[in-house]
Amino acid sequence: MEKLNEYLSKYKGYVFADHMLLVEHIDSLQNFEIRDSDVFLVTYPKSGTIWTQNIIMSICDSECTDETEFPNNLEKMPWLEYPQGHTDYSTRASPRFFASHLSTALMPPGLREKKPKIVYVARNPKDVAVSYFHFCRAWTQLETPRSFQEFLQEFIAGEVGGSSWFDHIRDWYTHRDDFNILFLMYEDMVMDLKTAVEKMSRFLGRDLNAEAVSLVVDKSTFKNMKKDPKANYEFLPEDVIQGKFMRKGTVGDWKNTFTVAQSEMFDEIYQEKMKDLPLKFIWDIE
Ligand code: PPS
Repeated sequence: MEKLNEYLSKYKGYVFADHMLLVEHIDSLQNFEIRDSDVFLVTYPKSGTIWTQNIIMSICDSECTDETEFPNNLEKMPWLEYPQGHTDYSTRASPRFFASHLSTALMPPGLREKKPKIVYVARNPKDVAVSYFHFCRAWTQLETPRSFQEFLQEFIAGEVGGSSWFDHIRDWYTHRDDFNILFLMYEDMVMDLKTAVEKMSRFLGRDLNAEAVSLVVDKSTFKNMKKDPKANYEFLPEDVIQGKFMRKGTVGDWKNTFTVAQSEMFDEIYQEKMKDLPLKFIWDIE
């Protein structure tokens, strides 16, 4: 394990926030038994994880009804890499749901063998960077960046929890055929949530009728999710986060933070690093 700074460490090529890293747990994922019925949500941080988590859990609502045992989305769909006090997921009833920000190499090998369903959501990296900047200021156990400029340098260098955005996208996109993946874009979800919900419900093999689709859409709009205590992560204690997971939820907010020079610098790096990938991100909605 390599210590990067007071708050971050690199383990097996991936950058973890120290307070969330339990090496034995990460190692144990190599023997984690996958079930065909498992459902995974994989994202780079700040790419719409808790949103998609709410969509998936709303689609599969009737399969996870034990509200006493699982009172919120975090309990219903725990983070694979963060033990959350109960690592023994082997006793959990099927179907199990997991969220993760990990790289393909750290994932349980059974994901390639059994091919359970994985929903991957990607978001344009300028909005990710801004969202992450605000998150670092709110999350008490992460370094508070002195300025956006400082954070942007770290983000580009991959010296943030979750490692490099560029590496994460490349890793999951280029290995997508090794897995059973539905690849979605945050911006498409913002522009047409209904179609995204339909795609997800078909992919998950839970074909919903039109009425059920609209219910899921309604539960997952920014406005409604923000009011939903099971979904908005306001159940986390104040000593952990002093701000909101549900901040703005828009496309193109980066324009309010990036300077022209920062944007041009980022574009150049983006072109260089992404030129061989066919992915097209939406940077703004007119
Ligand atoms: S984390 O910490 O990685 O789990 O964060 P993550 O959930 O991936 O990303 C947080 C951003 O997602 C936005 N969000 C939404 N956008 C649109 N609609 C809905 N319903 C929604 N829910 C969460 C959230 O506001 C964060 O983005 P920013 O740009 O900071 O607002």
